[in-house]
Amino acid sequence: MSEGQAVRERYTFFIDAMSKAGNAEGAKAVYDKWAETYDQDVMAPENQHYGRAFLVEALQKMVTDKSVKILDFAAGTGIVGQMVKQAGFNNIDALDCSNKCLEKAKEKHVYQNLMEETAGQRQLAINDRDTYDVLICSAGFGPNLLNQSVFSEWIRITKPGGYIFNSFRKQWLKLDPSLNDGKFEKEMQRLEDNYKWKLVGKEVQNGIDSKEALLFVHRIC
Ligand SMILES: C[S@@+](CC[C@H](N)C(=O)[O-])C[C@H]1O[C@@H](n2cnc3c(N)ncnc32)[C@H](O)[C@@H]1O
Repeated sequence: MSEGQAVRERYTFFIDAMSKAGNAEGAKAVYDKWAETYDQDVMAPENQHYGRAFLVEALQKMVTDKSVKILDFAAGTGIVGQMVKQAGFNNIDALDCSNKCLEKAKEKHVYQNLMEETAGQRQLAINDRDTYDVLICSAGFGPNLLNQSVFSEWIRITKPGGYIFNSFRKQWLKLDPSLNDGKFEKEMQRLEDNYKWKLVGKEVQNGIDSKEALLFVHRIC
């Protein structure tokens, strides 16, 4: 089998496994297994979506102080953390539920602290509102991954005036039952109506269906 074919097969296998994972523990098991080849598989041109590039471009435009304290939420193996560091930011922590992914992330020498935490089960061991200037989350939303229930926790740990950048594949808004039928948008709006955050940026990239990406940027009130 050629290397290209192997990448395609692994990618299809793991995306399918993620969709069938059932819950956060199942997703963690999938990412623990995928950690070794994740970078190669998701960065192959045929699999790459544009959410990561969107996020880093928007971050550079909207946040000019390179010393801000950033949390890379669902950081995985650190692909986006590495891009953010290359953009000049140097105060970045990582959080993910997969210790195998975090081991890979550590090898990149991008993060100051790496936290093995599963969001959605209990309050994260991160202090309230005085911790992060910026929270980024790339490809963290999708079947059996994160959903809008994490927003309140993001708001809790991000400083007032701070930014939250969230990008993921657009198709999950239609296909993932925990996000679809307006659930995602409704919670985003509810928090805005309650003066918790304000939408300050949105990008929708259209292209080949599975590669379409979305980016939402919120500012904490
Ligand atoms: C598609 S990967 C994205 C990784 C990285 N941000 C990127 O852009 O390549 C999704 C990540 O979310 C993590 N994850 C899934 N559910 C989680 C949860 N409930 N809490 C923390 N991390 C979670 C997985 O372990 C995985 O590393």
